[in-house]
Amino acid sequence: MKPTHALNHSDLLQLDQQYCWHPFTQMQTAQAPLPVVRGQGEFLYTANGDRYFDAVSSWWVNLHGHSHPAIAQAIAKQAHALEHVMFAGVTHPPAAQLAQRLVRHAPAPMAKVFYSDNGSTAIEVALKMAFQFWQNKGATPGQRSKLIALQGGYHGDTFGAMAAGQSSGFYDPFKPWLFGVDFIATGTCACTEEQSLAELDQLLLHPQQYAAIILEPLIQGASGMRMMRPTHVAEMCKRAHAAGLLVIFDEVFTAFGRTGTLYAAEQVTQQGGQADIIAVSKGLTGGFMPMAATLTSQAVYDAFLSDQVGQALLHGHSYTANPLGCAAALANLDLFEQGEAFQNMARIADIHAQWMPALATHPLLENPRQCGTVMAFELKSSHTQYGSSVSQWLRQAFLDEGIVVRPLGNTLYWVPPYCTQTDTLQHAYQTLLKVLERWGHLQAPGAGSELF
Ligand SMILES: Cc1ncc(COP(=O)(O)O)c(C=O)c1O
Repeated sequence: MKPTHALNHSDLLQLDQQYCWHPFTQMQTAQAPLPVVRGQGEFLYTANGDRYFDAVSSWWVNLHGHSHPAIAQAIAKQAHALEHVMFAGVTHPPAAQLAQRLVRHAPAPMAKVFYSDNGSTAIEVALKMAFQFWQNKGATPGQRSKLIALQGGYHGDTFGAMAAGQSSGFYDPFKPWLFGVDFIATGTCACTEEQSLAELDQLLLHPQQYAAIILEPLIQGASGMRMMRPTHVAEMCKRAHAAGLLVIFDEVFTAFGRTGTLYAAEQVTQQGGQADIIAVSKGLTGGFMPMAATLTSQAVYDAFLSDQVGQALLHGHSYTANPLGCAAALANLDLFEQGEAFQNMARIADIHAQWMPALATHPLLENPRQCGTVMAFELKSSHTQYGSSVSQWLRQAFLDEGIVVRPLGNTLYWVPPYCTQTDTLQHAYQTLLKVLERWGHLQAPGAGSELF
């Protein structure tokens, strides 16, 4: 058998087709996947040597570029010292140091770090913390047992995360098994914030029902890059806290600079709102290792202290606090602390801002918007479903131009790695205009396209 790195383009595709089952994919109708063998900076390379701009940072995980040498070296060095050890009854330097640095960078009142291995598990941990927090404090059955969440939120694919995100409509086959959550309008613009707060106030008339509110601060990613103002998020936090609920921030996507600050929570804190629990993952290791962390306040942590083992958080994963993941995350934080990442984030945000006027007046687009390094808009279309013909057409049209995108229905967005060069991003915007022109021709009367 050939070693993996020696597989050519077609052998790779053949092997994949024979054995792999891809995520979020209808395997019967899916086009062949992009056979990627190498990554460097903002680019991915196929076995044929073709180069693609990774305009979505590989599902939003990559920050400083693919195969960044400093992170790669940190992982290699750690692998030679200690590749893994269980984290129950054991500790190790990268886990302890990373926890300290995550807390130091986080806004108050974060004090403790619980590790897991992906965004969904970080949320699962956050939810279990919130529910058990109240049980440990003596909540009677039925009290503090529900959750408030925002419509269109996406929190992952494990059962608790699905329950908190069921309004997004991704989980129909599993609905009978999802626990009770009350959803409120998100408040994505000044015009809907009032409704969002009115719905929250209505639920908070009976606060004893609820353990917590969970939200994605500033940007709801997977439901279409729906953006919220920090003032609105802060207001929801204040009202939830006044009613005695815990506040959970799902920063799986937003943390590590996407919104312009290391944690989106920083911008909410400036407006007087705070979280009790923050879940992070994706960018935690700069896109190198599957790893997550759930940060909590001292008050949440203290509620689990007892002489009874049953009051502990009896949750863990074999790879909790994996040293290789921790080493990657420490190297990732080094890159932020050296400052260049912040300069790059500001540069990317500036380029998005330069393009906003052109997008705002484009006849085929709606609602262009930006938050930090994230830019999004909707293509005018009646086909808005995830995986719809529009999103497939867009994905292919950009691939033809050497750019990897993954539209959310008719929402197209850039979430580029921070190392993306100015020329690359400018070229991506020029390509966007070209793709829109193709799209416009297909829309023209008599073009005969059944897809759109
Ligand atoms: C906000 C948010 N929470 C949770 C998740 C789930 O993370 P993972 O895919 O690592 O399980 C995602 C994934 O996109 C996300 O965007």
